[in-house]
Amino acid sequence: MVTIQDLADLFREDNDIVVAPPAECRRFWPEVKASAHFRSRRDYLDFMQHNNGRIVYLQCSRETTPPFVLVGNWRSRSDIAALWYVKAEREEKRRLVTGAAKICLEEGSKRFITRPVTPMEAEEYASWGFCPHSRIILLEKQLNRQPPPVEMEGIRLLHFRTRDLAEVIRVDRLAFDDFWRLDRRTLETVAGSCLHNVFLLAKEEGRVRGYAVGGSNGRIGYLQRLGVHPLYQGLGLGEALARQLLRFLYIMGATVVSVNTQEDNLPALSLYRKLGFRDTGEYRVIMQKTRREPHRGGK
Ligand SMILES: CC(C)(COP(=O)(O)OP(=O)(O)OC[C@H]1O[C@@H](n2cnc3c(N)ncnc32)[C@H](O)[C@@H]1OP(=O)(O)O)[C@@H](O)C(=O)NCCC(=O)NCCS
Repeated sequence: MVTIQDLADLFREDNDIVVAPPAECRRFWPEVKASAHFRSRRDYLDFMQHNNGRIVYLQCSRETTPPFVLVGNWRSRSDIAALWYVKAEREEKRRLVTGAAKICLEEGSKRFITRPVTPMEAEEYASWGFCPHSRIILLEKQLNRQPPPVEMEGIRLLHFRTRDLAEVIRVDRLAFDDFWRLDRRTLETVAGSCLHNVFLLAKEEGRVRGYAVGGSNGRIGYLQRLGVHPLYQGLGLGEALARQLLRFLYIMGATVVSVNTQEDNLPALSLYRKLGFRDTGEYRVIMQKTRREPHRGGK
């Protein structure tokens, strides 16, 4: 049983954790910018406005920009809150993260999740009552020579045009389960996140059947997203898109390409291994806290 004093300490602990009013969010932009999660200040403010974005900060700090965390909806899911950025260390980090989780869960989110974190950071979150949501493994492939051009009968591999966006979002929604599917803003961010980017479509009879997104930062290339309409899976489209993407990454200067996927996504893992990707032995974990349902008495 907790004493009255313990409870008083608990409430005191939350006293200085403040949710910034929307107008104040602008002043956190210079710090948030470093997260590389938003392409521009406009993107950030748009996210804050439309994705229930909030800055939660420690009021009593003497620093000009106080320690803070940025939370907001997970993609298009208004029932899942995500921790997008943390600017705090040690005890202040613990207080802000657990405080923000408490606020979001009390406000009605079913789940509060982190971004993919290293195994060491995952242990830290576990000590604060978080548990693993999914494990993401990292694979790599050396690109020593240019992959040959890809031809597929009846399928055209084309570059993305803005007018295809709605169809790509539709394919994405059908290909991925509701946790992993992308909203428009995240897709646009992913597709523009590298120094050089490539966005390919597989079209059949003028309709988008699959798509692939990648990019390169110098010698490091990334295969960031690959999705095929469920009715067209198993026909070679995923492989063709990925091979064509690798070809572009090579032309853009990449000598090593990185990809990641959930450890239980066997079709994707099998495809990446077939393409010559090898496990790096590294992984990341998305950690979560879920809402405790009220305990109902009973027999
Ligand atoms: C993963 C995905 C892109 C593969 O696309 P696809 O067009 O169905 O795959 P392909 O027909 O080109 O198959 C190529 C290889 O992938 C692997 N593969 C594809 N489907 C598979 C399945 N159901 N089970 C196991 N391996 C599979 C095989 O190695 C296959 O080679 P094989 O035909 O010689 O056995 C597709 O299943 C998909 O969109 N899945 C949902 C979204 C997703 O998980 N994307 C990857 C996220 S990182």
